[in-house]
Amino acid sequence: MGRVIIVTNRLPVTVQKRRGKYTFQPSIGGVATGLSSVCDKQNCLWIGWSGLSKQALDSSAKRSIQAKLAKQHNSYPVFLDKRDVNSHYYGFCNNTLWPLFHCFTQHANYSKQWWESYQRVNELYAKAVLAKVKPGDTIWIHDYHLMLLPKLIREKLPKANIGFFLHIPFPPLEIYRMLPWRKEILAGLLSADLVGFHTYDYVQNFLDSVHRLLGYEHHLGSIVSGENITKVDAFPMGIDYNRFAQATELPQVAQETDKIRQKVGECQLILSVDRLDYTKGILERLDAFSYFLDQNPQYIGKVTLILVAVPSRTRIENYSLLKKQLDEKISQINGKYSEVDWIPIWYLYRSLPFEKLVAFYRAADIALITPLRDGMNLIAKEYIATKKDGRGVLILSEMAGTANELREALIVNPNDKRQISKALRRALEMPVAEQKEHNRIIQKRLQSYDVTKWAKDFLDNLSDLKKAQQKSRTKDLDESAWTKLKKQYRRSQHRLILLDYDGTLVSFVDDPDKAQPDQKLLEIIKSLTDDKHNRVVVISGRDRHTMGEWLQETKAEMSAEHGVWVKEKGRWQKAVDLSSASWMKKIKPILEQYVDRTPGSFVEVKDYSLAWHYRKADPKLALIRRKELLENCAQVTNTLDLDILEGNKVIEIKSADINKGRIASRWLDKRRWDFILAIGDDRTDEDMFSVMPKSAYTIKVGAEHSQASWRVKSVAEARELLENIGV
Ligand code: UDP
Ligand code: G6P
Repeated sequence: MGRVIIVTNRLPVTVQKRRGKYTFQPSIGGVATGLSSVCDKQNCLWIGWSGLSKQALDSSAKRSIQAKLAKQHNSYPVFLDKRDVNSHYYGFCNNTLWPLFHCFTQHANYSKQWWESYQRVNELYAKAVLAKVKPGDTIWIHDYHLMLLPKLIREKLPKANIGFFLHIPFPPLEIYRMLPWRKEILAGLLSADLVGFHTYDYVQNFLDSVHRLLGYEHHLGSIVSGENITKVDAFPMGIDYNRFAQATELPQVAQETDKIRQKVGECQLILSVDRLDYTKGILERLDAFSYFLDQNPQYIGKVTLILVAVPSRTRIENYSLLKKQLDEKISQINGKYSEVDWIPIWYLYRSLPFEKLVAFYRAADIALITPLRDGMNLIAKEYIATKKDGRGVLILSEMAGTANELREALIVNPNDKRQISKALRRALEMPVAEQKEHNRIIQKRLQSYDVTKWAKDFLDNLSDLKKAQQKSRTKDLDESAWTKLKKQYRRSQHRLILLDYDGTLVSFVDDPDKAQPDQKLLEIIKSLTDDKHNRVVVISGRDRHTMGEWLQETKAEMSAEHGVWVKEKGRWQKAVDLSSASWMKKIKPILEQYVDRTPGSFVEVKDYSLAWHYRKADPKLALIRRKELLENCAQVTNTLDLDILEGNKVIEIKSADINKGRIASRWLDKRRWDFILAIGDDRTDEDMFSVMPKSAYTIKVGAEHSQASWRVKSVAEARELLENIGV
């Protein structure tokens, strides 16, 4: 297995300059802590920003930092100049994307200059990756700072294995669309092979935005966009469970825990730990705590809230303002409730080293974690992992990604101080047996899907996708293949030419009745059928009347309704013996319900199939209805042995006996052919490709992934091919 190149904005250690000396501090935040554990266990190297601007480093410092990072952390720094640190990190990343993606639209600022810097920095990262990457490596890019990177790398290395993981929420379309560069960002991400999110909700939001803003639908989370095929899925990030669970046995942790317990005496201890960020709901949490003391005076002097706020992004105004507000609020509450020998809030404004942090987790009776919005929140998981004796209560915001997994916690709305106050009371009074019961369940889950499993799961998925892609990758019909094809065509005497209609010979239009062949197309077909060595068959899903009428002036043979009808030697006949299509009576009313509920859609009744068309319906609604319809029909279609065909903006239901493969075989078996050509564009045509002999030229129009051996990019190219084949 090749190496994994982890690419993040920040390296796992941040370099700081203090009194002329450089020090290396572990970086704070879920990405750095989580991935450090992964990187230790993988054949892995790490590319990211050192934390200092170029201007803060002379060339010898730069060299020594590079050497130390490479040797001790297998890390390779990207050096950013001051302007880009300001406009990329403090600007576009944390003043535009961070607030917007967390739905704090009031804090999001849009600046073209920041956007330019974002592009510039992503390009710098691309260069850094390209300098390190070797064949067989997997490039795993993380988080919102680098969303253009998959595309920039793909442009240079079309075959690279690229994974992307977003550690923050992906917002609903209504919010995401506010970003002026929304399309560019989506296009950047769609160059990755696999895009991961913490929760299914974020996946849905992303798919929704891709659909509405770029027009790409997904099939079971896979999106085909031009040359790319991208799988989108949820992988809830875990923690290094054993590291936290085992740390509780370290003597230093035990000592620290005792110290903390002594300091708070008999009081029950409530812990709150976060980076100081407005998304974390710290002010709202304090209001709720104050409300709790107000409502439950019997707890005055009996509980202590330890509030750890880790300094973060302090140069951004919203963050420095929050710090001021926090200081004020804490002194207000302490001023209001403190007694001679007791203060309600014990406040630490700094980051804690690992052992101290674990000691706080261990000592705390309750963890109060109430972000207003949070991609995941690892602190909540870490807290539970340290509870070896099973005691402790987690109060968790429903707005954290973690809430999906930690359902046994006391889940609260972070904006509802009454609910938080009640939860605090319940937590303080919860019997130990109940605490243990909840925590054991959570612990089991956290242990089995820890950060190593999470990473393995993501990387395994990526590697499987890559293998599947390679298998199904269709080569472009290049000059040499084209020359060969023409040569074989000229030499042959008995040629079979099988052509799909919509999406192959004509482009899609909103109204399927308006896709008549133009004069040029009729001429192309006629010139093929005029050659006595050719047998030309148009194989379509359309009904036979339309097909017959549209192509009547050509001598092409035809198959309509995916092979129910065939027209040979000028005469239509039934190709399959379907005694009755009684299933239609059951399915038609279901489809009609969907027409009523999806304005713009309609049902087409063919002799042996039913099709629900939704090209003209509102795309978002249609997508929801389509999903519902598929689920709704699945049961009935299974029992009745029917097939559901998902075409381009159409769902068609037909008997499982009928498909284009079957009908193509009818012509294949007619004689020995010395030239076979089959062209098609959608999933139904895959059935046709699958029955073709190896010697046939099978050509897919559009997508890169198909069972066909060659591909042309568009209807225009397909027509050009047919026009020039004999030239
Ligand atoms: N952390 C730390 N020292 C501290 C506070 C937090 O090392 O003083 C770590 C903590 O262990 C956790 C991470 O920072 O792994 C915070 O991750 P989380 O997902 O909860 O929030 P984020 O900061 O990424 O938004
Ligand atoms: C969040 C982000 C991370 C980031 C961390 C710390 O967890 O998802 O990408 O590293 O916060 O923020 P900072 O701005 O200090 O890197």
